[in-house]
Amino acid sequence: MERKDFLRTLGAGAAFALTFPCLQGCSKDDENGDKVEAPTGIDFTIDLNSTEGKKLSNNGSFILKDLVVVVKDLDGNFVAATQVCSHESYDQVRFLSNDGGIFYCDVHGSRFALDGAPLNQVDGNAAKPLRIYNTELNGDILRVYE
Ligand code: FES
Repeated sequence: MERKDFLRTLGAGAAFALTFPCLQGCSKDDENGDKVEAPTGIDFTIDLNSTEGKKLSNNGSFILKDLVVVVKDLDGNFVAATQVCSHESYDQVRFLSNDGGIFYCDVHGSRFALDGAPLNQVDGNAAKPLRIYNTELNGDILRVYE
């Protein structure tokens, strides 16, 4: 069966979908995660003795809260960054223990130092820094704020 005959048997809709699979855009828009606005006015606390806070007991652990990645880095310091990637605003920034501990977005592979400095280029473009928030530890209460 020739290709055009095959497509005819499928019907117009299926033939169109097979012929133009990227018409809706072959961008990364269908990646896991959502494109979101970076949050503003970040100011919250985490009780390190709470169920949530205990997830930060070990060096190299992190939690997600209010679109912020809260990290206990490999040296035991608390660091916080936006979950919203500076590349295309997907909320997929996470902490990786690799390379001494970095922020990483798996949508297109952006990597950031713990101070938010970009560590690589994506799509050949100069990467923008990742937004970093202040952290302050008072006893067992960790404050994350702008
Ligand atoms: S949105 Fe492209 S690397 Fe994060």
